[in-house]
Amino acid sequence: MTLQARWTETLDGLTAQGRLRALRLPHGIDFTSNDYLGYGNGRLANPKVPSAELARTGMASRLLRGHHAVWDEVESELAAWHAAEAVLMMTSGFTANEGLLSTIVEPGDWVATDELNHACISEGLRICRPRKFAFRHNDLNHLEDGLRAEAAKRPEGRQMLVVTESVFSMDGDRAPLVEIVTLAERYGASVIVDEAHSTGCFGPRGSGCVDELGLRSRVLATVHTGGKALGVTGAYICGSRLLRDYLVNKCRHLIFTTALPPAIGTWWIDRLPKVQSDNLGREQLHANARRIRAVLIEDGLPMIGETFIVPVVLGDDRNAVRVATVLQTKGYDIRAIRPPSVPLGTARLRVSIHADHSPEMIDQLAFDIIEGVRQ
Ligand SMILES: Cc1ncc(COP(=O)(O)O)c(C=O)c1O
Repeated sequence: MTLQARWTETLDGLTAQGRLRALRLPHGIDFTSNDYLGYGNGRLANPKVPSAELARTGMASRLLRGHHAVWDEVESELAAWHAAEAVLMMTSGFTANEGLLSTIVEPGDWVATDELNHACISEGLRICRPRKFAFRHNDLNHLEDGLRAEAAKRPEGRQMLVVTESVFSMDGDRAPLVEIVTLAERYGASVIVDEAHSTGCFGPRGSGCVDELGLRSRVLATVHTGGKALGVTGAYICGSRLLRDYLVNKCRHLIFTTALPPAIGTWWIDRLPKVQSDNLGREQLHANARRIRAVLIEDGLPMIGETFIVPVVLGDDRNAVRVATVLQTKGYDIRAIRPPSVPLGTARLRVSIHADHSPEMIDQLAFDIIEGVRQ
C-alpha cells in the first residue's frame, strides 16, 4: 500500500465514523476559543506595538542568540507573580509539558497521570517511557491505590510523580489539588500541575489554582500557557532554580528550537499587569459561567464540571456535529468535540464562556442550545 493510499483509507474511515476534522475559519460569536478574559477580542486596550528591532531578532535557540533581555524581565515578573523561585519561558504549552516531562522523568520512574490529562502530557510520557499509572479522572481512591502499591515496592533511586491539570480542558471541572498533593506527600511522590486553563482566571491576581490554594511550595512545578486567558503566545514552567538550570541544560524542547521573538516578550510585559489587576474580568467570567450553567441545568441538560468551560455532552459524534451546525447557522462559533479529543461515546459541544459575553448573549445561547439539542 502506498503512503497516499494509507492516508486516504484513514481519512475515509474518519468520514464514515462522522469524525473527519477540517479547518474552519472563525465565524460568529466566539463561544469556542480559550480567550476567557476577552483580551483577544479587544476587551482591554491594544498591546503596545513592538519596535522593528524587537520584531526582527531572535532567529536562534535561546541558548544561542535567541535569548534577549526581555525574557529575563518576563521570567522575573512571572516568578514574582507566583512567588516562585524561577520561571522558564517555552514556545507553547504543548512543548512546555512535553519538554518538562520528557526531561525530568527517566525510564523506571513511576508516573500517575489523570486519564483525562491533555495530549501533550501523554506525549511527554510517551517519550520518556516511565511506568505509567493512568488513574480514573479525579478519583482520589484510585490514585491512592496506585501510590500505595508503588511505594511498597519502589525500586531504589526511582522517582514517583503525579501529573494533573488544575482545570480540565474538556470537562471544565477542577482537580482536587489539596487532596492530590496531600496524598502524594504521604507516599513520597512529587506533583506537577498543568495550569493551562486556570492561569489568568483563578487565584490571587489570576495566577492560578496552585497559588489560590497556597500549594506553591508543595508542588514540583506548574505549567502555564499564554495562549488561553492571557491572550498572548508562549508558555512557561514555574519551579525551583535548580529545575530551571536542569531544563536549560537538558530540555531538548528548549535547546533545539528557535526562541520566540523578543516582540512577544514585550507583549507579555504589557499584558501581565493588566491580567493581575483584572478582577472585574474574572468576576464577569465566573458570573457568566454560573449563569449559563444554571439555565442549562434548570432545563434538564446534564452538566459536568463547574467552570467557564461548559461541556454539553451529547454522546454520539454525528449528533454533536448536527447540534454544532445548528448553532453555527444561528451565528455562534461553537465546535463539536469528538474522540480522540474526548473519550469514545462522549462527543460534545465545548462551550467556552468569556468575560465579555453579555448576560443577553448567554441567555440566548442557552435557549438556542436547548432548542438545538431537542430538535
Ligand atoms: C490542558 C492543556 N495543556 C496544555 C495545552 C497546550 O498549550 P498551548 O496551546 O500553549 O500549546 C493545552 C491546549 O490545548 C491544554 O488544554
